[in-house]
Amino acid sequence: MILINDQFMQRNQDTHIDIEDRGYQFGDGIYEVVRVYRGKPFRLDDHLDRFERSAKEIRLPLPMSKGETKLKITQLIEMNNLQDGIVYFQMTRGVAPRNHAFPEKVKPVLTAYTKEFKRPINQLKNGIKVVTVEDIRWLRCDIKSLNLLGNVLAKQYAYDHQAEEAIQIRDNSVTEGSSSNFYIVKDGKIYTHPADHFILKGITRMVVEEISNQLGIPFIENVFSVKDIYRADEAFISSTTQEITPVIQVNDKTISNGPGPIVRAIQAEFEKLI
Ligand code: PDD
Repeated sequence: MILINDQFMQRNQDTHIDIEDRGYQFGDGIYEVVRVYRGKPFRLDDHLDRFERSAKEIRLPLPMSKGETKLKITQLIEMNNLQDGIVYFQMTRGVAPRNHAFPEKVKPVLTAYTKEFKRPINQLKNGIKVVTVEDIRWLRCDIKSLNLLGNVLAKQYAYDHQAEEAIQIRDNSVTEGSSSNFYIVKDGKIYTHPADHFILKGITRMVVEEISNQLGIPFIENVFSVKDIYRADEAFISSTTQEITPVIQVNDKTISNGPGPIVRAIQAEFEKLI
């Protein structure tokens, strides 16, 4: 089953999205990806809060309350009997004759579906290689917008270079991955880009911050450069689907001989929460 507005339906040839949906034509909308572990959504409230914030920032009036959306998403998980996977949901500004400015009368379109997804055990255990790429995205990366072309091109660049993720660099500052937040560890402290308009404030990033506080590991929100990565003791990324994944190689440089102690400690606490 999928969700379209407030209706649950089977996905078949009859389910369609209008050709003039502004999400389709302009990327005029927002989305969330929520992880489901053993049938339960992880940090759904935080995702819904971010969804509301994104909507506000693009001046999209949400037709449903947070509670109503939460109920629909939870029902969808139950109807599909999803155990281990993700829920994807998005809201576009709606269907109207094509014109860049907001249409006068328009009804937002909510769609949601679930998908089975296994934890990336191999990558969590062994770590990944990443490459750096110029951050060419717009200046409101804090909004979880459907416009992902910059992120798409960055991820493809990574795959073209036999890497799992692309770490984006803007004006010599490391911002974030194409679909993840990025961190380095130096002398027992975790460093990551401040949660301003240059990055998405990840829900998993919030969890990393909480765990760091709990373990007494300083969590420092500061800009740093590629040179700082090369000098780091450890590096890792975080996201809903990648969880806390160690980074063991950046471009041609090995960061640590396998995942280091800090990332292992964060991973161990994260496991307890899920
Ligand atoms: N991506 N930064 C960017 C650019 C992202 O797209 C994501 C998530 C994150 C991490 O956010 P969170 O911890 O809330 O997942 C950071 C999702 C998973 C995606 O687009 O598939």
